[in-house]
Amino acid sequence: MSEGSSGSSTYVCVVTGASRGIGQAAAAELARRGATVVTLGRDAGSTIRCDLSSLTSIRSAAAEIRERWPRIQLLVNNAGVQHVRRKVSADGIEATLAVNHLAPFLLTHLLLPALRAGVPARVVTVSSSLARWGRIDLDDLQSARRYNGTRAYLQSKLANIMFTASLAERLAGTGVTAVCVYPGLVATDLLRERWWWRARWLRPLWRALFLSPNDAGRAVADSATATLPSEGYCLTLGGRPVRTPRAARDGAARQRLWDASARLVGVDL
Ligand SMILES: NC(=O)c1ccc[n+]([C@@H]2O[C@H](COP(=O)([O-])OP(=O)(O)OC[C@H]3O[C@@H](n4cnc5c(N)ncnc54)[C@H](OP(=O)(O)O)[C@@H]3O)[C@@H](O)[C@H]2O)c1
Repeated sequence: MSEGSSGSSTYVCVVTGASRGIGQAAAAELARRGATVVTLGRDAGSTIRCDLSSLTSIRSAAAEIRERWPRIQLLVNNAGVQHVRRKVSADGIEATLAVNHLAPFLLTHLLLPALRAGVPARVVTVSSSLARWGRIDLDDLQSARRYNGTRAYLQSKLANIMFTASLAERLAGTGVTAVCVYPGLVATDLLRERWWWRARWLRPLWRALFLSPNDAGRAVADSATATLPSEGYCLTLGGRPVRTPRAARDGAARQRLWDASARLVGVDL
């Protein structure tokens, strides 16, 4: 773990969605490695209460972080959802897009001053190797015409990678790096709305096939300091860099997604 440019040995990590699953394990692992961990979530145990489906809540959480920790070294955009049926946030935005993509987009933007002040710093966004099957539908980004939970989820995970690739490009040379991590298939509550995941008799099978949250949490913690060959790579569970999916290498498509996201969250980037 590196030291910030302040000369202080405090390594401040902000982790979203640390109430359970991968985020909880990653936060615990980062704390075990000596970091000051600031957690962001809806539960009472979070350092800062934040509903990541609400743009207002994200703005107020980011303002509090900047005030209390003006220098941060790591932001882990981990919180995520998978909804079987279409849900809409308080801002009227489809919930998967809001939590999985727009929240990291806005939170990162709002915390950039603190990350820049804390260099060397990194933004890690938890995506999925399944993102390569995703497709960005700019004409119906919020799946208003036709909703499919898996499709909305994969779109959001591809959006994570496209956002990260654009961010890394924009931040080149600043000392702030950005990378996505693929945690593998992990036995968490992410699929709790699926009957086949909840079914008691299938539980032993999932536990045998899927990784434990602790394995994934360690991989997320490792990605904070892993060496990257250059921009345009994601990190696998074992810390191996792999090229971003083809769709995320299209700079014009990334720009269109960036512009649409900026409009939805109301920032001028
Ligand atoms: N599990 C896998 O196999 C797998 C594979 C690839 C990628 N991932 C990614 O890993 C990340 C973590 O997922 P997980 O598997 O650990 O799932 P999980 O156990 O369901 O945990 C999700 C976390 O996100 C938080 N969250 C959800 N909506 C929120 C909101 N509106 N505001 C604040 N926090 C919110 C949850 O908080 P609450 O407790 O308040 O709900 C929880 O802490 C996700 O980005 C997911 O896409 C998971």
